[in-house]
Amino acid sequence: MALEYSSSYSLLSQLFITPYFFIFLLVLLYSISSFHVTFISASTPTTSLSKVEQDQERLALLTWKASLDNQTQSFLSSWFGRNSCHHWFGVTCHRSGSVSNLELDNCSLRGTLHNLNFSSLPNLLTLNNYNNSLYGTIPINIGNLSKLITNLNFAFNHFTSVISPQLGFLTFLSVLTLSSNNFRGLIPPSIGNLRNLTTLYLHTNKLSGSIPQEIGLLTSLNDLKLTTNSLTGSIPPSIGNLRNLTTLYIFENELSGFIPQEIRLLRSLNDLQLSTNNLTSPIPHSIGNLRNLTTLYLFENKLSGSIPQEIGLLRSLNDLQLSTNNLTGPIPHSIGNLRNLTTLHLFKNKLSGFIPQEIGLLRSLNDLQLSINNLIGPISSSIGNLRNLTTLYLHTNKLSGFIPQEIGLLTSLNDLELTTNSLTGSIPPSIGNLRNLTTLYLFENELSGFIPHEIGLLRSLNDLQLSTKNLTGPIPPSIEWKKRKEKK
Ligand SMILES: *[C@@H]1O[C@H](CO)[C@@H](O)[C@H](O)[C@H]1NC(C)=O
Ligand SMILES: *[C@@H]1O[C@H](CO)[C@@H](O)[C@H](O)[C@H]1NC(C)=O
Ligand SMILES: *[C@@H]1O[C@H](CO)[C@@H](O)[C@H](O)[C@H]1NC(C)=O
Ligand SMILES: *[C@@H]1O[C@H](CO)[C@@H](O)[C@H](O)[C@H]1NC(C)=O
Ligand SMILES: *[C@@H]1O[C@H](CO)[C@@H](O)[C@H](O)[C@H]1NC(C)=O
Ligand SMILES: *[C@@H]1O[C@H](CO)[C@@H](O)[C@H](O)[C@H]1NC(C)=O
Ligand SMILES: *[C@@H]1O[C@H](CO)[C@@H](O)[C@H](O)[C@H]1NC(C)=O
Ligand SMILES: *[C@@H]1O[C@H](CO)[C@@H](O)[C@H](O)[C@H]1NC(C)=O
Ligand SMILES: *[C@@H]1O[C@H](CO)[C@@H](O)[C@H](O)[C@H]1NC(C)=O
Ligand SMILES: *[C@@H]1O[C@H](CO)[C@@H](O)[C@H](O)[C@H]1NC(C)=O
Ligand SMILES: *[C@@H]1O[C@H](CO)[C@@H](O)[C@H](O)[C@H]1NC(C)=O
Ligand SMILES: *[C@@H]1O[C@H](CO)[C@@H](O)[C@H](O)[C@H]1NC(C)=O
Repeated sequence: MALEYSSSYSLLSQLFITPYFFIFLLVLLYSISSFHVTFISASTPTTSLSKVEQDQERLALLTWKASLDNQTQSFLSSWFGRNSCHHWFGVTCHRSGSVSNLELDNCSLRGTLHNLNFSSLPNLLTLNNYNNSLYGTIPINIGNLSKLITNLNFAFNHFTSVISPQLGFLTFLSVLTLSSNNFRGLIPPSIGNLRNLTTLYLHTNKLSGSIPQEIGLLTSLNDLKLTTNSLTGSIPPSIGNLRNLTTLYIFENELSGFIPQEIRLLRSLNDLQLSTNNLTSPIPHSIGNLRNLTTLYLFENKLSGSIPQEIGLLRSLNDLQLSTNNLTGPIPHSIGNLRNLTTLHLFKNKLSGFIPQEIGLLRSLNDLQLSINNLIGPISSSIGNLRNLTTLYLHTNKLSGFIPQEIGLLTSLNDLELTTNSLTGSIPPSIGNLRNLTTLYLFENELSGFIPHEIGLLRSLNDLQLSTKNLTGPIPPSIEWKKRKEKK
């Protein structure tokens, strides 16, 4: 088997561009799979490499080294002598003496790949150049890399080229990481050939054009990150094929159109982030199918319609951020089911109606921001249940009634902003319990009565803004204000 493999390999490269290749590949794959149990050893050469082949590998590495800048070369000073498998830094070999892994992450390598002869490394499984200073293009002959390569990592370098469509030849890849470079141009549709990919990171580049619908062919994907690029167009419905996805990040692009209904099929998702795009139309009701979601970020889009009440089915959610959209209607009562929520951001929408009483059930909340909406009615006294809150923003709504005295139970609060509402009555003295409060904004309300002297207990306060219009009495002198602004 092993012999058959190494001889067939060179044959493979000759046949590569001919139509026979595909038939041949089928035969090859069949012959490999019939030896399933020994697949790992069968896929790597077990007989020793010939001297000539070994020299080719050594020469390829030394030629590349010589093309890198001087400092890099001294970093790779262990790369010398006759045997590249013998204590060369970052180089691992198969038992046969053929190079299997190049692990050169965080090595400050500076230079290009132009002088790395990929054809000379036919048995490479891993090429890890994570976090170096490699630049220029990914040469077209990357397609000549070992067909067996499973892990290719070029993240955190300075590549500026397009993503070579020839990467589509590397069909054994399971991890492809090109993030945090300056790759530009389109995501090549040939990426759809990489059926064994479990991780695809193309984020933080300058990619443009739309997400190719061939992405839907990558049915083994667990983790897909395309964020922080300039991708346009809509999210292809074929994304619904990626049934094993647990993480889908497409945020910080210029995507428009709808969130496709097919998103409901991604039942394995834990973490879905589509924020900071130009997505329109309502949030699909079927989002309620994604029962394993712990994080859902749809903020900074143009989503309209109301928050589907099916959101209440996502009981595993820790972090729900729908802020800065065009959402209307009430906050659904079902939100009270999300008992594991620590962060709830619904600010900067057009939400109306009352703050549902059920919000008081979200006892794990640290951060509750409902500001800049059209919410009406009183602040429910149930808010006092949220003992772990550190941030409570309800400002810029149409809330009325008193500030409930239960606010004094929120002893973890750092930041309380209730400004620009229609709150009446006096400031409850219980506010003096909020010993960790650093910011207290109550201005632009209709508060009246005495400023409670208990405010003097808020020793951590460094930013106090009260409307003094109808408030009377002094601000307790016991506080050494670091910064005090009083809105008249
Ligand atoms: C690198 O080293 C060679 C030979 O030692 C020298 O000629 C060349 O100027 C050096 N290049 C840089 C950029 O330091
Ligand atoms: C390179 O850095 C990354 C991130 O800091 C780290 O995960 C990885 O282990 C490092 N590799 C080496 C060889 O230090
Ligand atoms: C690259 O390596 C292959 C196989 O070892 C060899 O045939 C070819 O001539 C090399 N190409 C260059 C440019 O050195
Ligand atoms: C994909 O992975 C499976 C199992 O690891 C393997 O049998 C198959 O040959 C791989 N296919 C390709 C095209 O790499
Ligand atoms: C999806 O994941 C399951 C469980 O891990 C696995 O058995 C299955 O092969 C995966 N499907 C694909 C297409 O990779
Ligand atoms: C969003 O769409 C508007 C037009 O509706 C356009 O002006 C704006 O540039 C787009 N923003 C992004 C980030 O695509
Ligand atoms: C949801 O998560 C549970 C627990 O982690 C897991 O057993 C289950 O397979 C997941 N469901 C899907 C559809 O991935
Ligand atoms: C809520 O969190 C707890 C503790 O982290 C966890 O055990 C539980 O499974 C979570 N509930 C859901 C519905 O995910
Ligand atoms: C917000 O929604 C309203 C209708 O509900 C619509 O008239 C308006 O154009 C939308 N605004 C944006 C920025 O999408
Ligand atoms: C509140 O926070 C504490 C400390 O972080 C944590 O142990 C506790 O489980 C939290 N309570 C709830 C209801 O989440
Ligand atoms: C107040 O802040 C201190 C210091 O950050 C912290 O140790 C303490 O737990 C906080 N108190 C409450 C009730 O959150
Ligand atoms: C504020 O005081 C003015 C004058 O004393 C009074 O007319 C007004 O009704 C008061 N407003 C509120 C909300 O108490």
